[in-house]
Amino acid sequence: MSKKRVLSCIQPTGEIHIGNYFGAVRNWVDIQDKYDCVYGVVDLHAMTMPYDPARLRENTTQMFIDLLACGIDPKKSVLFVQSLVPQHTELTWIFSCVTSYGELSRMTQFKDKTSQLEAEGGKKNFISAGLFTYPVLMAADILIYKAHYVPVGKDQEQHLEMSRNIAVRFNNQFGDYFPEPAPLYTELPKVMSLADPTRKMSKSLGEKHYIGLFESEDSIRKKVKTAVTDTGSQPGGEMSPGVANLFSIIRACGNLQAWEELNKQFLNGTLKYSELKNVTADSLVNTLRPLREKRTELNSDRTLADKLMHEASAVARDYTTRVLDDVKGMVGLIS
Ligand code: TRP
Repeated sequence: MSKKRVLSCIQPTGEIHIGNYFGAVRNWVDIQDKYDCVYGVVDLHAMTMPYDPARLRENTTQMFIDLLACGIDPKKSVLFVQSLVPQHTELTWIFSCVTSYGELSRMTQFKDKTSQLEAEGGKKNFISAGLFTYPVLMAADILIYKAHYVPVGKDQEQHLEMSRNIAVRFNNQFGDYFPEPAPLYTELPKVMSLADPTRKMSKSLGEKHYIGLFESEDSIRKKVKTAVTDTGSQPGGEMSPGVANLFSIIRACGNLQAWEELNKQFLNGTLKYSELKNVTADSLVNTLRPLREKRTELNSDRTLADKLMHEASAVARDYTTRVLDDVKGMVGLIS
């Protein structure tokens, strides 16, 4: 029996943090044998908000390298850079013509980002049509590989539903062709901000709030040390969000023995937060060290990295060219 296909993508918006890793990317790595996986660095999506061209190019290459460093293996999975596979954009146009304007207007992320841009004002007060049609490009990313499953977070559920609607509308109009992509849910750790543990870890909250996946050991230790732990909870009582977050990081690192020991201490009221923080920092440092080493090695030969990026994307181009040919035939274009 052939494996089901899974597809997911990440925007090259700079450094990955431990929340992205434990909450998504590590799972991408883990499912590479079980599914037929396709992963992408979606640079075209990153153009929908104000950005710097030189930085976008660098971030795209770096994100490709970072995914390799995390363990995405181009021998097992397809790993493409979106702009190197122009078939996505061509399919986006075709899909734009089976997408309703009204449905696009109802996307909550578009509304949120629009008000964010309006609030920032000044030069940033420009809302591009690209931001509006972004979900159509995302549908093309998914459907051009005929993906069965898409691991997505809550924030992307509405976009995935839109992809299903596009698939259905296309199939009704032109003949059954695209499978309807379903979300792939996996129980994954949700890492919270270190400085405000009631909020999800995010780079946009600021430096103190997140730990970059490839940060130096020193910096990891410093950030863990200053993490918010307690806001007046009693020993043995309910765990405060900050303490729970450190526990969950230790568990995410697979340090279960230490987790159990510390939890016992928590329950009988003898837990020292300094000890909890030491164990958290050690667990992170040990888990992330091999990734950082792999990244340093890949970064030391950018010519090779560039070659890998083009080769891996060429595999995606071969596959999507065939799909796009079928589609063009179906919709009445000369193919
Ligand atoms: N929109 C997604 C995000 O911002 C990124 C993305 C683009 C994506 N194309 C995709 C995710 C296809 C899953 C499948 O996170």
